[in-house]
Amino acid sequence: MSIRTNYERWYAEEGYYWGTEPGRSLDELIGLCPPAPGKRALDIGCGEGKDAVYMAQKGYTVSAFDLTENGIRKTLALAADRGVTVDAWVDDINTFETKDMFDIVWSTGTVQYLFEENKAEFFRKLGRITAPDGIVFINVFVDKPFLPLPPDWDIEEKMWRPGELFTYLPDWKVERIDEVIFEDRSGGIPHHHCMDTIICRKVAY
Ligand SMILES: C[S@@+](CC[C@H](N)C(=O)[O-])C[C@H]1O[C@@H](n2cnc3c(N)ncnc32)[C@H](O)[C@@H]1O
Repeated sequence: MSIRTNYERWYAEEGYYWGTEPGRSLDELIGLCPPAPGKRALDIGCGEGKDAVYMAQKGYTVSAFDLTENGIRKTLALAADRGVTVDAWVDDINTFETKDMFDIVWSTGTVQYLFEENKAEFFRKLGRITAPDGIVFINVFVDKPFLPLPPDWDIEEKMWRPGELFTYLPDWKVERIDEVIFEDRSGGIPHHHCMDTIICRKVAY
């Protein structure tokens, strides 16, 4: 059977490929949109659930999806282990639909799986599913000619152009934009990524 992402196999292995500690910017995001009864968060490309579960522990009502069955199985297991609930399902960032609205939309390391023809509609969708005053966090790997392709680069991943991410959601209030090169040891081989990040707020006007 052909698979669309190598993560399906990597998540089938013992342990947590990404560990169980939350992503490095998640506390910053939570500070910008603190938990309160009824606040909802969505994790797009949740992997094995470390961030979705952390947000549930903080008190948000959390929804999360990923393309991998093994990732969702582990997300649900981690949530159960931590005594919280996460509504997690298998879905594709290119085609997912939801009628819900979210105060936080978080997507780390996943937007580069969007097919070119789906990018504009994805950001329009973010506009529809983000609640007024809600916050979106997105990061994406960008191409730099002096950095080799990472050793665990995936089947359907496509590098974005530097700055491309910042051209979407132009009417939103930017809380942070940056581009950072960092070392990563995922897959066991040290390598470098260049990553663009945007945190922005849907301000009613
Ligand atoms: C770099 S990992 C990041 C995982 C998670 N956000 C984290 O930080 O732990 C990229 C994730 O994108 C998922 N993925 C790949 N293609 C996808 C798609 N078309 N739709 C949704 N998720 C996808 C992979 O299964 C993987 O979990």
